[in-house]
Amino acid sequence: IAVLLLVVFSLSCPAAEALDNGLALTPTMGWLHWERFMCNINCDKDPDNCISEKLYMQMADVMVKEGWKDAGYEYVCIDDCWPSHDRDAKGRLQADPRRFPGGIKKLADYVHSKGLKLGIYGDVGKNTCAGYPGSLGYYEVDAQTFADWGVDLLKFDGCYMNWTLLGEGYVNMSKALNKTGKSILYSCEWPLAFLCLQPNYTAIRETCNHWRNYADVYDSWSSVKSISDWTASHQDIIVPRGWTWGLE
Ligand SMILES: *[C@@H]1O[C@H](CO)[C@@H](O)[C@H](O)[C@H]1NC(C)=O
Ligand SMILES: *[C@@H]1O[C@H](CO)[C@@H](O)[C@H](O)[C@H]1NC(C)=O
Ligand SMILES: *[C@@H]1O[C@H](CO)[C@@H](O)[C@H](O)[C@H]1NC(C)=O
Ligand SMILES: *[C@@H]1O[C@H](CO)[C@@H](O)[C@H](O)[C@H]1NC(C)=O
Repeated sequence: IAVLLLVVFSLSCPAAEALDNGLALTPTMGWLHWERFMCNINCDKDPDNCISEKLYMQMADVMVKEGWKDAGYEYVCIDDCWPSHDRDAKGRLQADPRRFPGGIKKLADYVHSKGLKLGIYGDVGKNTCAGYPGSLGYYEVDAQTFADWGVDLLKFDGCYMNWTLLGEGYVNMSKALNKTGKSILYSCEWPLAFLCLQPNYTAIRETCNHWRNYADVYDSWSSVKSISDWTASHQDIIVPRGWTWGLE
């Protein structure tokens, strides 16, 4: 199995205020499915590579067996395309029942039993980038659902959202996560979604544990290099606010 790892480096500037939920005091290290598996939901034709509970269980096993856990990689992260297209009768998100027959809670229990943590994906807008239900209008319900499931990290995307309300949405979800009483690492796509409008990094660092500044990483050196080049050429805006650099 090809394991592509996500490393987020963060360097905090002690003068500025940062989100205080006790998490991400050292760089977040783990694995995120998108670069390798994207939105492959075809479990009939491609059962070993589709977005399903089996994939994350297998990845957790590999992270332990091949020494990644011992090296510090801790988070097994689900990206887009995990949910059902419909919320349940109480308005809660639910995992696609065919691809996640055990549900997310059981998957989180499995990942925890390996000494690892589970990350999940949501979106600040009406839909996720791939068209699944987004959290707009449901921030508190979704935060509580993730907490009830025992999820440890939320990657919160920025698709299908009115740009003038995007920052407010990220802030509201941050408050909703805090209100659950469970510390959940909050990873925001806010600056990326706002790139053309000059993101307010002061607000972002008060709201999120870390954030993603630039485009998706693909399976090539030129992709990795284009992201580090962008980061290098934007030191003027990134460094004064304390910076975070990651590959997703
Ligand atoms: C919620 O926010 C308060 C104030 O910043 C902080 O002290 C507390 O640890 C947070 N709780 C969680 C669960 O994130
Ligand atoms: C976006 O939100 C602003 C402020 O609420 C509103 O004035 C505007 O009409 C909205 N735009 C769209 C396309 O919904
Ligand atoms: C954020 O929360 C405030 C206060 O509850 C609310 O007025 C506002 O509409 C919310 N914004 C979004 C985008 O959810
Ligand atoms: C950026 O966010 C900070 C913290 O929320 C706020 O005090 C400041 O006014 C914002 N700056 C701009 C230019 O909106």
